[in-house]
Amino acid sequence: MRVLVTGGAGFIGSNIVFELVEKGFETYVVDSMHTGNEKNLEGVMDSVRLFKCGAGEIPSLSLPKVDFVLHYGIYSSSPMYKEDRRRVAEAIGDAITVFEFAKDCGSRVILCSTSSLYNGLPTPWREDAVPLVTDFYTEARIAIERLAELYHKLYGLNVITLRHFSIYGPKEEYKGQYANNITQFLWCMMKDKPPVIFGDGNQTRDFVYVKDAVEAAMRAMEKDIEYDVFNVGTGKDTSFNKIVEILNRKLGKNIKPKYVPNPIKNYVYKTQADPTKAEKILGFRAKTTLEEGIDKTIQYYKQLEWIPDV
Ligand SMILES: NC(=O)c1ccc[n+]([C@@H]2O[C@H](COP(=O)([O-])OP(=O)(O)OC[C@H]3O[C@@H](n4cnc5c(N)ncnc54)[C@H](O)[C@@H]3O)[C@@H](O)[C@H]2O)c1
Repeated sequence: MRVLVTGGAGFIGSNIVFELVEKGFETYVVDSMHTGNEKNLEGVMDSVRLFKCGAGEIPSLSLPKVDFVLHYGIYSSSPMYKEDRRRVAEAIGDAITVFEFAKDCGSRVILCSTSSLYNGLPTPWREDAVPLVTDFYTEARIAIERLAELYHKLYGLNVITLRHFSIYGPKEEYKGQYANNITQFLWCMMKDKPPVIFGDGNQTRDFVYVKDAVEAAMRAMEKDIEYDVFNVGTGKDTSFNKIVEILNRKLGKNIKPKYVPNPIKNYVYKTQADPTKAEKILGFRAKTTLEEGIDKTIQYYKQLEWIPDV
Protein backbone atom coordinates (compact mmCIF):
# COMPACT_ATOMS: atom_id res chain seq x y z
CA MET A 1 0.00 0.00 0.00
CA ARG A 2 1.17 3.53 -0.79
CA VAL A 3 0.84 6.54 1.43
CA LEU A 4 1.66 10.22 1.08
CA VAL A 5 2.42 12.15 4.26
CA THR A 6 2.52 15.94 3.97
CA GLY A 7 4.59 17.46 6.76
CA GLY A 8 6.30 14.09 7.11
CA ALA A 9 9.64 15.66 8.07
CA GLY A 10 8.02 17.51 10.98
CA PHE A 11 7.42 16.48 14.57
CA ILE A 12 4.22 14.40 14.41
CA GLY A 13 4.66 13.61 10.70
CA SER A 14 8.10 12.03 11.10
CA ASN A 15 6.91 9.92 14.04
CA ILE A 16 4.08 8.71 11.77
CA VAL A 17 6.50 8.02 8.89
CA PHE A 18 8.62 5.74 11.12
CA GLU A 19 5.49 3.75 12.01
CA LEU A 20 4.37 3.52 8.36
CA VAL A 21 7.79 2.30 7.21
CA GLU A 22 7.79 -0.25 10.04
CA LYS A 23 4.36 -1.44 8.86
CA GLY A 24 5.68 -1.86 5.29
CA PHE A 25 3.92 1.07 3.55
CA GLU A 26 5.54 2.56 0.44
CA THR A 27 5.89 6.07 1.87
CA TYR A 28 6.12 9.44 0.12
CA VAL A 29 6.78 12.63 2.05
CA VAL A 30 6.09 16.20 0.93
CA ASP A 31 7.48 18.80 3.32
CA SER A 32 8.31 22.47 2.80
CA MET A 33 11.00 22.21 5.52
CA HIS A 34 9.54 25.26 7.25
CA THR A 35 9.81 23.58 10.66
CA GLY A 36 10.60 20.12 9.31
CA ASN A 37 14.07 18.66 8.90
CA GLU A 38 15.56 15.71 7.01
CA LYS A 39 17.29 14.69 10.25
CA ASN A 40 13.87 13.77 11.69
CA LEU A 41 13.82 10.99 9.07
CA GLU A 42 17.32 9.68 9.75
CA GLY A 43 17.07 5.90 9.86
CA VAL A 44 14.20 5.62 7.35
CA MET A 45 15.51 7.76 4.47
CA ASP A 46 16.31 4.62 2.41
CA SER A 47 12.66 3.58 2.59
CA VAL A 48 11.06 6.98 1.98
CA ARG A 49 10.82 9.28 -1.03
CA LEU A 50 11.11 12.86 0.23
CA PHE A 51 10.02 15.91 -1.79
CA LYS A 52 11.20 19.17 -0.26
CA CYS A 53 8.39 21.47 -1.33
CA GLY A 54 5.04 22.80 -0.23
CA ALA A 55 1.86 20.73 -0.43
CA GLY A 56 0.62 23.19 -3.06
CA GLU A 57 3.24 21.79 -5.46
CA ILE A 58 1.90 18.22 -5.33
CA PRO A 59 0.44 18.36 -8.90
CA SER A 60 3.92 18.98 -10.36
CA LEU A 61 5.61 16.07 -8.56
CA SER A 62 4.43 13.16 -10.73
CA LEU A 63 3.60 11.16 -7.64
CA PRO A 64 2.10 7.70 -8.17
CA LYS A 65 -1.47 7.00 -7.07
CA VAL A 66 -1.56 6.47 -3.33
CA ASP A 67 -4.04 4.64 -1.09
CA PHE A 68 -3.86 7.18 1.73
CA VAL A 69 -2.99 10.84 2.09
CA LEU A 70 -2.12 12.01 5.60
CA HIS A 71 -2.25 15.80 5.55
CA TYR A 72 -0.08 17.12 8.40
CA GLY A 73 1.93 19.65 6.36
CA ILE A 74 0.25 22.83 7.53
CA TYR A 75 1.78 25.75 9.46
CA SER A 76 1.56 24.25 12.91
CA SER A 77 1.24 27.07 15.39
CA SER A 78 -0.99 30.08 16.02
CA PRO A 79 1.86 32.69 16.09
CA MET A 80 2.93 31.65 12.57
CA TYR A 81 -0.43 32.90 11.25
CA LYS A 82 -0.23 36.09 13.30
CA GLU A 83 3.22 36.78 11.79
CA ASP A 84 1.76 36.53 8.28
CA ARG A 85 -2.03 36.44 8.12
CA ARG A 86 -1.98 35.45 4.44
CA ARG A 87 -0.87 32.00 5.60
CA VAL A 88 -4.56 31.35 6.32
CA ALA A 89 -5.21 31.50 2.58
CA GLU A 90 -2.08 29.47 1.77
CA ALA A 91 -3.10 26.68 4.18
CA ILE A 92 -6.61 26.57 2.68
CA GLY A 93 -5.25 26.60 -0.90
CA ASP A 94 -2.83 23.76 -0.09
CA ALA A 95 -5.63 21.73 1.47
CA ILE A 96 -7.68 22.07 -1.73
CA THR A 97 -4.68 20.82 -3.72
CA VAL A 98 -4.35 17.86 -1.35
CA PHE A 99 -8.08 17.02 -1.58
CA GLU A 100 -7.96 17.26 -5.40
CA PHE A 101 -4.97 14.90 -5.50
CA ALA A 102 -6.72 12.43 -3.15
CA LYS A 103 -9.95 12.65 -5.20
CA ASP A 104 -8.08 11.92 -8.44
CA CYS A 105 -6.22 9.00 -6.83
CA GLY A 106 -9.32 7.65 -5.07
CA SER A 107 -7.31 7.72 -1.86
CA ARG A 108 -8.56 8.12 1.67
CA VAL A 109 -7.52 11.20 3.63
CA ILE A 110 -6.48 11.52 7.25
CA LEU A 111 -6.70 15.23 7.95
CA CYS A 112 -4.75 16.65 10.85
CA SER A 113 -6.67 19.34 12.68
CA THR A 114 -6.46 20.98 16.06
CA SER A 115 -8.23 21.35 19.39
CA SER A 116 -7.52 25.09 19.09
CA LEU A 117 -10.73 25.45 17.16
CA TYR A 118 -12.59 24.91 20.46
CA ASN A 119 -10.80 27.90 22.07
CA GLY A 120 -13.02 29.89 24.40
CA LEU A 121 -15.68 27.18 24.79
CA PRO A 122 -16.42 25.46 28.13
CA THR A 123 -14.52 22.16 28.62
CA PRO A 124 -14.51 19.21 28.10
CA TRP A 125 -14.59 19.74 24.37
CA ARG A 126 -16.76 17.54 22.18
CA GLU A 127 -16.60 17.18 18.41
CA ASP A 128 -20.06 18.71 17.90
CA ALA A 129 -19.14 22.03 19.56
CA VAL A 130 -19.65 25.16 17.47
CA PRO A 131 -16.33 27.08 17.23
CA LEU A 132 -16.00 30.73 18.19
CA VAL A 133 -14.07 33.33 16.20
CA THR A 134 -10.77 33.55 18.13
CA ASP A 135 -7.71 33.16 15.97
CA PHE A 136 -6.24 33.15 12.42
CA TYR A 137 -4.86 29.62 12.90
CA THR A 138 -8.27 28.26 13.86
CA GLU A 139 -10.04 30.08 11.02
CA ALA A 140 -7.76 28.23 8.57
CA ARG A 141 -8.43 24.88 10.24
CA ILE A 142 -12.20 25.38 10.42
CA ALA A 143 -12.30 26.25 6.71
CA ILE A 144 -10.14 23.21 5.84
CA GLU A 145 -12.36 20.89 7.90
CA ARG A 146 -15.48 22.27 6.19
CA LEU A 147 -13.89 21.87 2.75
CA ALA A 148 -13.06 18.25 3.62
CA GLU A 149 -16.73 17.70 4.40
CA LEU A 150 -17.70 19.38 1.13
CA TYR A 151 -15.33 17.14 -0.86
CA HIS A 152 -16.94 14.20 0.89
CA LYS A 153 -20.49 15.35 0.13
CA LEU A 154 -19.85 16.32 -3.50
CA TYR A 155 -17.23 13.81 -4.60
CA GLY A 156 -17.40 11.00 -2.05
CA LEU A 157 -13.90 11.72 -0.73
CA ASN A 158 -13.30 9.65 2.42
CA VAL A 159 -11.89 11.88 5.15
CA ILE A 160 -11.18 11.29 8.82
CA THR A 161 -10.29 14.49 10.66
CA LEU A 162 -8.22 14.19 13.82
CA ARG A 163 -8.35 17.16 16.19
CA HIS A 164 -5.12 16.92 18.12
CA PHE A 165 -4.69 18.31 21.60
CA SER A 166 -1.30 19.34 23.05
CA ILE A 167 1.28 16.89 21.68
CA TYR A 168 4.78 16.49 23.10
CA GLY A 169 7.65 14.06 22.73
CA PRO A 170 10.67 13.12 20.61
CA LYS A 171 11.58 14.90 17.34
CA GLU A 172 10.30 18.32 18.37
CA GLU A 173 13.71 19.98 18.35
CA TYR A 174 13.28 21.60 14.93
CA LYS A 175 10.08 23.31 16.10
CA GLY A 176 12.17 25.35 18.56
CA GLN A 177 10.05 28.18 19.99
CA TYR A 178 6.90 26.54 18.57
CA ALA A 179 7.40 23.25 20.44
CA ASN A 180 5.05 22.03 23.16
CA ASN A 181 5.24 23.59 26.64
CA ILE A 182 6.44 20.33 28.22
CA THR A 183 9.27 20.05 25.72
CA GLN A 184 10.28 23.72 25.96
CA PHE A 185 10.21 23.61 29.78
CA LEU A 186 12.39 20.49 29.64
CA TRP A 187 14.92 22.09 27.27
CA CYS A 188 15.26 25.09 29.63
CA MET A 189 15.54 23.00 32.77
CA MET A 190 18.11 20.65 31.22
CA LYS A 191 20.25 23.80 30.81
CA ASP A 192 19.43 24.94 34.41
CA LYS A 193 17.37 27.84 33.08
CA PRO A 194 13.94 28.70 34.59
CA PRO A 195 11.03 27.89 32.28
CA VAL A 196 9.06 31.03 31.44
CA ILE A 197 5.34 30.84 32.27
CA PHE A 198 2.70 33.38 31.27
CA GLY A 199 0.56 34.28 34.32
CA ASP A 200 0.42 32.11 37.46
CA GLY A 201 1.09 28.66 35.98
CA ASN A 202 -2.40 27.37 36.77
CA GLN A 203 -3.37 27.21 33.10
CA THR A 204 -3.87 23.63 31.92
CA ARG A 205 -3.50 21.56 28.75
CA ASP A 206 -4.65 18.11 27.71
CA PHE A 207 -1.16 16.75 26.97
CA VAL A 208 -0.83 13.81 24.57
CA TYR A 209 2.35 11.81 24.01
CA VAL A 210 3.28 11.76 20.32
CA LYS A 211 3.17 7.95 20.00
CA ASP A 212 -0.51 8.12 20.93
CA ALA A 213 -1.08 10.66 18.15
CA VAL A 214 0.62 8.19 15.77
CA GLU A 215 -1.65 5.44 17.08
CA ALA A 216 -4.71 7.62 16.38
CA ALA A 217 -3.60 8.02 12.75
CA MET A 218 -3.07 4.25 12.42
CA ARG A 219 -6.55 3.56 13.81
CA ALA A 220 -8.03 6.09 11.39
CA MET A 221 -6.31 4.33 8.47
CA GLU A 222 -7.65 0.93 9.57
CA LYS A 223 -11.27 2.04 10.00
CA ASP A 224 -13.70 1.92 7.13
CA ILE A 225 -15.30 5.30 7.86
CA GLU A 226 -16.45 7.53 5.01
CA TYR A 227 -16.34 10.82 6.88
CA ASP A 228 -15.98 11.76 10.53
CA VAL A 229 -14.17 14.00 13.02
CA PHE A 230 -12.48 12.83 16.21
CA ASN A 231 -10.66 14.34 19.16
CA VAL A 232 -7.18 13.03 19.88
CA GLY A 233 -6.84 13.83 23.57
CA THR A 234 -6.60 12.07 26.92
CA GLY A 235 -9.56 13.72 28.67
CA LYS A 236 -7.25 14.91 31.47
CA ASP A 237 -5.71 18.34 31.80
CA THR A 238 -2.57 19.24 33.75
CA SER A 239 -1.29 22.63 34.87
CA PHE A 240 2.03 24.13 33.79
CA ASN A 241 3.04 24.31 37.49
CA LYS A 242 2.46 20.56 37.79
CA ILE A 243 4.58 19.92 34.67
CA VAL A 244 7.48 21.92 36.15
CA GLU A 245 7.11 19.96 39.42
CA ILE A 246 7.24 16.62 37.55
CA LEU A 247 10.24 17.73 35.46
CA ASN A 248 12.12 18.89 38.59
CA ARG A 249 11.48 15.54 40.27
CA LYS A 250 12.59 13.53 37.24
CA LEU A 251 15.67 15.68 36.54
CA GLY A 252 16.65 15.84 40.23
CA LYS A 253 16.52 19.66 40.15
CA ASN A 254 14.68 22.43 41.99
CA ILE A 255 14.24 25.16 39.38
CA LYS A 256 11.54 27.78 39.98
CA PRO A 257 9.64 28.99 36.90
CA LYS A 258 9.89 32.62 35.86
CA TYR A 259 6.33 33.98 35.89
CA VAL A 260 5.74 36.87 33.47
CA PRO A 261 2.61 38.89 32.61
CA ASN A 262 0.63 37.27 29.83
CA PRO A 263 1.15 39.25 26.60
CA ILE A 264 -1.36 37.26 24.50
CA LYS A 265 -4.86 38.66 24.01
CA ASN A 266 -6.57 35.43 22.93
CA TYR A 267 -4.66 33.21 25.38
CA VAL A 268 -6.17 29.80 26.17
CA TYR A 269 -6.37 28.91 29.89
CA LYS A 270 -7.64 25.36 29.71
CA THR A 271 -7.88 22.60 27.13
CA GLN A 272 -9.51 19.25 27.75
CA ALA A 273 -10.83 16.70 25.29
CA ASP A 274 -13.91 14.62 25.59
CA PRO A 275 -12.34 11.40 24.22
CA THR A 276 -15.59 9.38 24.25
CA LYS A 277 -16.35 9.48 20.50
CA ALA A 278 -12.80 8.53 19.47
CA GLU A 279 -12.86 5.61 21.92
CA LYS A 280 -16.27 4.38 20.80
CA ILE A 281 -16.00 4.71 17.02
CA LEU A 282 -12.28 4.84 16.24
CA GLY A 283 -11.23 2.48 19.02
CA PHE A 284 -8.59 5.02 20.01
CA ARG A 285 -7.56 5.69 23.57
CA ALA A 286 -4.36 7.50 24.55
CA LYS A 287 -2.40 4.87 26.48
CA THR A 288 0.72 6.72 27.60
CA THR A 289 0.50 8.28 31.06
CA LEU A 290 2.00 11.73 31.55
CA GLU A 291 4.72 10.21 33.77
CA GLU A 292 5.67 7.63 31.11
CA GLY A 293 5.53 10.17 28.29
CA ILE A 294 7.73 12.63 30.15
CA ASP A 295 10.22 9.84 31.01
CA LYS A 296 10.50 8.89 27.32
CA THR A 297 10.77 12.54 26.28
CA ILE A 298 13.59 13.17 28.78
CA GLN A 299 15.39 10.01 27.62
CA TYR A 300 15.23 11.17 23.99
CA TYR A 301 16.48 14.74 24.56
CA LYS A 302 19.25 13.59 26.91
CA GLN A 303 20.83 11.54 24.12
CA LEU A 304 20.74 14.38 21.55
CA GLU A 305 23.97 16.28 20.93
CA TRP A 306 22.06 19.54 20.70
CA ILE A 307 18.84 20.97 22.10
CA PRO A 308 17.38 24.33 21.09
CA ASP A 309 17.69 27.52 23.15
CA VAL A 310 14.17 28.78 23.80
N1 LIG B 1 1.95 19.54 18.09
C1 LIG B 1 0.73 19.78 18.54
O1 LIG B 1 0.48 19.89 19.75
C2 LIG B 1 -0.40 19.92 17.58
C3 LIG B 1 -1.69 20.09 18.10
C4 LIG B 1 -2.74 20.24 17.20
C5 LIG B 1 -2.53 20.18 15.84
N2 LIG B 1 -1.27 20.02 15.38
C6 LIG B 1 -1.10 19.97 13.93
O2 LIG B 1 -0.31 18.87 13.57
C7 LIG B 1 0.36 19.12 12.32
C8 LIG B 1 1.82 18.80 12.48
O3 LIG B 1 2.34 19.67 13.46
P1 LIG B 1 3.62 19.33 14.29
O4 LIG B 1 3.28 19.54 15.72
O5 LIG B 1 4.19 18.05 13.86
O6 LIG B 1 4.56 20.55 13.91
P2 LIG B 1 5.64 20.71 12.74
O7 LIG B 1 5.78 22.17 12.56
O8 LIG B 1 6.85 19.94 13.08
O9 LIG B 1 4.92 20.03 11.52
C9 LIG B 1 4.47 20.69 10.37
C10 LIG B 1 5.28 20.16 9.22
O10 LIG B 1 4.67 20.59 8.03
C11 LIG B 1 5.63 21.23 7.22
N3 LIG B 1 4.89 22.23 6.45
C12 LIG B 1 4.42 23.44 6.84
N4 LIG B 1 3.76 24.02 5.83
C13 LIG B 1 3.80 23.16 4.79
C14 LIG B 1 3.29 23.17 3.48
N5 LIG B 1 2.61 24.23 3.02
N6 LIG B 1 3.52 22.11 2.70
C15 LIG B 1 4.23 21.04 3.14
N7 LIG B 1 4.74 20.97 4.36
C16 LIG B 1 4.51 22.01 5.19
C17 LIG B 1 6.66 21.81 8.17
O11 LIG B 1 7.90 22.01 7.56
C18 LIG B 1 6.70 20.70 9.22
O12 LIG B 1 7.59 19.69 8.85
C19 LIG B 1 0.11 20.60 12.02
O13 LIG B 1 -0.92 20.68 11.09
C20 LIG B 1 -0.35 21.16 13.37
O14 LIG B 1 -1.17 22.28 13.22
C21 LIG B 1 -0.20 19.90 16.20
